[in-house]
Amino acid sequence: MRWLVTGGLGFIGSQFIRLVLRERAEVSVVNLDAMTYAGNPANLRDVEHDPRYRFHKGDICDAGAVAEAIGPGVDAIVNFAAETHVDRSILDPKDFLHTDILGTHVLLEAQRERGVRRYLQVSTDEVYGDVAAGDSTESDPLRPRSPYAASKAGADLQVLAYHVTYGAPVLITRGSNTYGPRQYPEKIVPLFVTNLIDNQPVPVYGDGEQIRDWLHVEDHARAILHVLERGKTGNVYNVGGANPRTNLELTRLLVEGCGRSMETHVEHVTDRLGHDRRYALDTAKLRALGWSPRVPFDEGLRSTVAWYRANESWWRPLKTGEYLEYYKRQYAQR
Ligand code: TYD
Repeated sequence: MRWLVTGGLGFIGSQFIRLVLRERAEVSVVNLDAMTYAGNPANLRDVEHDPRYRFHKGDICDAGAVAEAIGPGVDAIVNFAAETHVDRSILDPKDFLHTDILGTHVLLEAQRERGVRRYLQVSTDEVYGDVAAGDSTESDPLRPRSPYAASKAGADLQVLAYHVTYGAPVLITRGSNTYGPRQYPEKIVPLFVTNLIDNQPVPVYGDGEQIRDWLHVEDHARAILHVLERGKTGNVYNVGGANPRTNLELTRLLVEGCGRSMETHVEHVTDRLGHDRRYALDTAKLRALGWSPRVPFDEGLRSTVAWYRANESWWRPLKTGEYLEYYKRQYAQR
């Protein structure tokens, strides 16, 4: 079997490819990745010479690049390729609409034209918007509130429309906040850990009482594989870690885990525009399909901190150039 994975040089995509190569001997993987700032070849250095792995540099918005990556044919398309950072989407929404919506459209067309037997869209809990109480189920209305979430919701709706209109064999996973090794250091966990290692303060937005559900990247990758292999087409599956924490609670774990103190290393900064207070997922549907998360939160967070400590050569080069430019713009706006 041959699968096309898009965005496979990113955080979750690279973990998925490593998992598939390790545990599915019958599958070979073609990775189509545009190598934007978040697509990092170092994320798959350990498998780049695997004969079952092939890399294509290209953008999912480019139908020619997608056709070339598909080559003689693939049995499945798994779309991880997306612009994903809320703060960037607030600064500059256009790239989000382009990649997340148009890119998905191009892949859906490729699925249709080539008769690919399965299409999985990797989505996010952010499409449900702010959830004051209770848990979001898959049939809840989408109420995205950031340009990022709205672009992902737009893509989800296209995917589902292709199922209704053309009978496309699609699946969607909606994951909660994911953490673990190899996450670009703009997201809260790697940003805070790498700042703390460098004895720098960490910026907590607003009152820090916002709630996110935390899911280890290994559990997230396993859930996507599980849905790809066992999900019922036309269906959406929530993927959550059942670890709700306020940002301040998470910050305390990271600050103390790095041997620093809240008094000296936490800086309260102006809140994110339109900041969602809470996300929460009902994951009964995926659990009924036989998946559940395996990595306990405390252990996952400890090993994640240890990974960033042991892999400075992975993240230090990332905190230069484009990254510094982004932070300059980010804080100029606040
Ligand atoms: P983030 O990692 O950007 O994920 P998302 O916004 O998609 O959930 O942020 C997680 C939470 O942490 C979110 O409530 C915003 C907050 N946050 C901070 O307080 N400071 C930061 O520097 C960042 C990046 C995020």
